[in-house]
Amino acid sequence: MKKVKVNLGQSSYEIHIGPGLLFDAAQRLKEIGFAGKLVIITNPVVNRLHGDSLKQNLQSEGFGVTILEVPEGEKQKSLEVAIVLYSQLADCRAERTTPILALGGGVIGDLAGFVAATYLRGLPLIQIPTTLLAQVDSSIGGKVGLDYGLLKNKIGAFYQPRLVIADIQMLNTLTPKELSDGLAEVIKYGVIWDKRFFAFLEGNLDKIKALDEATLEETVFHSARIKAIVVEKDERDFNLRHILNFGHTIGHGIETASDFRLSHGEAVAIGMLAAARISNKMGFLGKNELLRLKNLIMRAELPTKMPDISRGEIIQAMGHDKKIAQGRIKFILPKSIGKVFITSEVAPSLVEQVLAGFNDET
Ligand code: GLY
Repeated sequence: MKKVKVNLGQSSYEIHIGPGLLFDAAQRLKEIGFAGKLVIITNPVVNRLHGDSLKQNLQSEGFGVTILEVPEGEKQKSLEVAIVLYSQLADCRAERTTPILALGGGVIGDLAGFVAATYLRGLPLIQIPTTLLAQVDSSIGGKVGLDYGLLKNKIGAFYQPRLVIADIQMLNTLTPKELSDGLAEVIKYGVIWDKRFFAFLEGNLDKIKALDEATLEETVFHSARIKAIVVEKDERDFNLRHILNFGHTIGHGIETASDFRLSHGEAVAIGMLAAARISNKMGFLGKNELLRLKNLIMRAELPTKMPDISRGEIIQAMGHDKKIAQGRIKFILPKSIGKVFITSEVAPSLVEQVLAGFNDET
């Protein structure tokens, strides 16, 4: 088992990473002072797969467990669903000391996190992420929130969890596509921060895809370590934390313009490649490193070709078309693998050029 500490003063917490951690979750909660009643928020699929194990472990150590289910899917990240959860928390007499356990992927983490942050002005939150994407990204760093209409994550808060339990064995039930989705964020960490981690991924990608436990543990550990470092330096996302958006500037545009036919990880993969090409054309990232990134993305079964979406729609969906016109949109560009910089100096014509020629590049 590995631990990462997120040092944020009074809001500091640990991330526990390893196989089978779900089976001693109760012990981990006791160690940080919890006892008595708690509430698990999850979805029916995750509940069927993991709910019983967690519940049994918690009950055997004397916890009183209430499980609240919300249906699967991004649509659940709404104020309406949050209101239903508030009333269910009232029904089960949740108090300010009652921990909320968010058992699921990014949607559950964001929704349960938001409810925990706001009900009774804040209940303790424990993140138990069940997807690779949630284990390496959304469960760490305290961003919780809801969508507002079509606007993703428009209502939210910074609310740090008290503990993150990343059980590597949960990744066994992911589909290859869900695994690839998480790998996009994992590759991102190598590019933005750590060339040795990037080389580790190049050397171990096949083992990761084969769900080798030790390799997955190492992968989640380094990803969490890098995210923790960045969040510690800029919890509220004023400057350095922007680098976690590498690949997301164009990626978000593609995700929305594709009407979410493309998953987040797929869109981020194309976005990372586009940002790397912009950087290469501006004279920063070398061709060799650009090809290493493309290769790793391909090996992670993520797309390196643009789907059939018009450039105009992508730029419009980036929600920043005016800013692009004024050349002010912020891009995270790699200088080399392991080093990125933030710039507003990308010419709009270059963005257009890279998107236009995307599928012709080698
Ligand atoms: N996922 C980006 C962030 O946590 O800031």
